[in-house]
Amino acid sequence: MEQLKKILLPEKDIPEKWYNIQADMPNKMLPPLHPGTKQPVGPEDLAPIFPMELIKQEVSSERWIEIPDEVRDIYKLWRPSPLIRASYLEKFLDTPAKIYYKNEGVSPPGSHKPNTAVAQAYYNKMEGVKKLTTETGAGQWGSALSFACQLFGIELEVFMVKVSYDQKPYRKSMMNVWGANVFSSPTNITESGRKILAENPNSPGSLGIAISEAIERAASRDDTKYSLGSVLNHVLLHQTVIGQEAIKQMEIAGDFPDIVIGCFGGGSNFSGIAFPFLGLNFREGKKVRCLTVEPASCPKLTKGEFRYDFGDTVGLTPLIPMYTLGHTFVPEPIHAGGLRYHGAGALVSQLLRDKLIEAQALRQLECFDAGVKFARTEGIIPAPESTHAIAAVIKEALKAKEEGASKTILFNLSGHGYFDMAAYDDYFKGKLVDHELTDEELHAGLKVLDTPVIE
Ligand SMILES: Cc1ncc(COP(=O)(O)O)c(C=O)c1O
Repeated sequence: MEQLKKILLPEKDIPEKWYNIQADMPNKMLPPLHPGTKQPVGPEDLAPIFPMELIKQEVSSERWIEIPDEVRDIYKLWRPSPLIRASYLEKFLDTPAKIYYKNEGVSPPGSHKPNTAVAQAYYNKMEGVKKLTTETGAGQWGSALSFACQLFGIELEVFMVKVSYDQKPYRKSMMNVWGANVFSSPTNITESGRKILAENPNSPGSLGIAISEAIERAASRDDTKYSLGSVLNHVLLHQTVIGQEAIKQMEIAGDFPDIVIGCFGGGSNFSGIAFPFLGLNFREGKKVRCLTVEPASCPKLTKGEFRYDFGDTVGLTPLIPMYTLGHTFVPEPIHAGGLRYHGAGALVSQLLRDKLIEAQALRQLECFDAGVKFARTEGIIPAPESTHAIAAVIKEALKAKEEGASKTILFNLSGHGYFDMAAYDDYFKGKLVDHELTDEELHAGLKVLDTPVIE
């Protein structure tokens, strides 16, 4: 059979349902807790900031959840995304491994994020919400939600982490084109932002701080709700269109992955590609290894502790059972802004705790080196976040070469890096540094927590 370079599916193959891993995972996740009462949160606790349909998805244990026609119609702008055989990278590495990737960079904002942004904007619109607030790290999520809100006629305020606001100015312009109002976080317009600035006027910001600001804004107004780009169950759910398409495309390629790899910020792109394969592990006894890759400077999965912690810095969210570095932890200003998050989704955390998935932490320079290798062989310049997955793929492919084993590797190219060229410039100028979290920094982040470690 002739080897295909890319495998495209027709629009009719856009999945009709999202896959909910809560139906199949052997141990259910622990419930999020109200920080005051320490009791499980109920729908009424979340209703001020999320629409009811998303709250229902958050707690659902139904295996399949119908994708509304309006959402599928918008998905047609870029879905199904291509599955590509990285044949030039394979040749360059001289590896017997077969490497495939899903290219989520083909969406209008350039990443996997609109898979959930469109769904979230839709459910908010259905419930009459006029305005949304959100945070963004590198700007991929902010642009995705700006794009989605524009399509549904919803106003949007974006709190963009200061270091990324300064590093990636055209992401802000992109959000402005799609009608959003963008602030450099921490700001002076929220109490949360003012508190952080009082402690450190030069704060580079973090996703945790930007989340606090966005939640505070939404909670203070009746016509406004909040939208999150990762971590929560419903966000991970919406991303499962990626893995479902990949299963079909791998079938057409006449192949099946031994290992699936995704970079890790809060868990959404990894879950998007991996959860449908994990579903096959759980239901059909398949043995796909699923590997998350995080930055060595923000290693919550490999060095953090499993305990209840806040999803934001100020402490406005419920307590979430997750691997965390502590909600006040401010990561180094690495260019992979979307991976600078102190915690992890509860579903992914539970799966890691049960050793059903794996985690690896890599340093910035190795990741950029891998990103450049990828760009010089396959052509696409990857987002700094996605270079983490590529670096891990290269390691696995070289290991296969050493062992003389033919492995099939699938990874998610979560986004392109065309707005991240300053990062590549810095890499070529030798300005990027490798930073690995020290034990001191780790303990400083964790010691502020008053919840016990969960064994
Ligand atoms: C391109 C890209 N990949 C990955 C991530 C990491 O987030 P998540 O773990 O939710 O996929 C982000 C977050 O902003 C991103 O922009």
